[in-house]
Amino acid sequence: MKLLVTGGAGFIGGNFIHYILKKYSDYKIVCLDKLTYAGNLSTLKDAFTNKNFKFVKGDIADRKTVDNLFAKEKFDVVINFAAESHVDRSILNPEVFLVTNIIGAQVLMEACKKFGNIRFHQVSTDEVYGDLPLNRPELMFTEDTPIHTSSPYSASKASADLLTLAYFRTYGLPVTISRCSNNYGPYHFPEKLIPLMITRALNDKTLPVYGNGKNVRDWLYVEDHCKAIDLIISKGKMGEVYNVGGHNEKSNIEIVKLILKKLNKPESLITFVEDRKGHDLRYAINPEKIEKELNWTPETKFDKGIENTINWYLENKKWWEDIISGEYEKYYEKMYKTKEKNL
Ligand code: NAD
Ligand code: TYD
Repeated sequence: MKLLVTGGAGFIGGNFIHYILKKYSDYKIVCLDKLTYAGNLSTLKDAFTNKNFKFVKGDIADRKTVDNLFAKEKFDVVINFAAESHVDRSILNPEVFLVTNIIGAQVLMEACKKFGNIRFHQVSTDEVYGDLPLNRPELMFTEDTPIHTSSPYSASKASADLLTLAYFRTYGLPVTISRCSNNYGPYHFPEKLIPLMITRALNDKTLPVYGNGKNVRDWLYVEDHCKAIDLIISKGKMGEVYNVGGHNEKSNIEIVKLILKKLNKPESLITFVEDRKGHDLRYAINPEKIEKELNWTPETKFDKGIENTINWYLENKKWWEDIISGEYEKYYEKMYKTKEKNL
């Protein structure tokens, strides 16, 4: 089995590569990654020592690069993790989201079609469903919930989903889509809520909470997401969408307070800042379909997962200190300068 994993130098793709190389000693993986600000070769340090792993630097939206790679390697499955993934950045600069998330997915599917109807899996997000109200806890996203996006990020991911289903219906390309809730775990880029709060708290810096902190996300430990994708690739039904979620809804302020408690840091570090534009209130996934059809279940309880994650950041300071000391520092200054009204 030879897999093309795009975006493998990022958070979830990197975890997926480690998971697959450990589980299947006979799988070969080629990782195609542009190494944007979010891509880190150090995330793949262990994979580089495995003879079944190969890394190629390149852009999924560049047809020539993609076609050359497909002509050279004979892939059995393509799993597309590569994306611009941060909502706040999509608000600042939407264009690159359209190029990578939409055109990039289309270029990959076109190559799958051209080089032998190759199996394609699109890694998507629950954000394509828009948001749910805070006062209706019984409501959850199912695969039949209409697409109703809020941010340029979610609009670009929804567009890629629609294209993926179009390639199935029109060309018979064997495709599947997974729509997962918020992930957390090792190698998570410190611009996202959980790693941002852990790394800033460790440095005794203010913790910027958007709005009133009551927005809710459904958190899933990244390894459980990797297991779900592995199952969908091997047992999923072509042309189907699978929701993946952790049955684990928490408000942002709850998460931030929990992190402070675990790190023994004071709540006075919390700073309420200006809200995100178009901020989605609540995400909640109903994962019944993947649970029933593919026998998947979220195995890591939040208490254990957050403990593992905090310990990972404590034990891997070099990984994130290198990130926050570079270009990322400038991004933080720019993004939060206008937000931090209490500073
Ligand atoms: P990430 O930002 O950590 O990593 C993205 C990776 O893609 C990076 O390595 C980057 O270099 C690479 N990349 C970006 N543009 C590229 C291009 N044009 N060509 C090749 N490589 C490129 O993202 P993540 O959090 O690991 O998310 C992975 C996927 O999962 C994304 O498609 C995202 O939409 C989806 N997703 C993420 C979450 C989450 O909670 N993080 C939840 C659900 C779905
Ligand atoms: P994020 O990790 O960016 O994921 P997403 O927006 O894709 O769900 O944000 C998770 C939640 O945390 C979201 O409601 C926005 C909020 N948030 C903050 O309050 N402060 C921050 O500095 C960041 C990055 C996010």
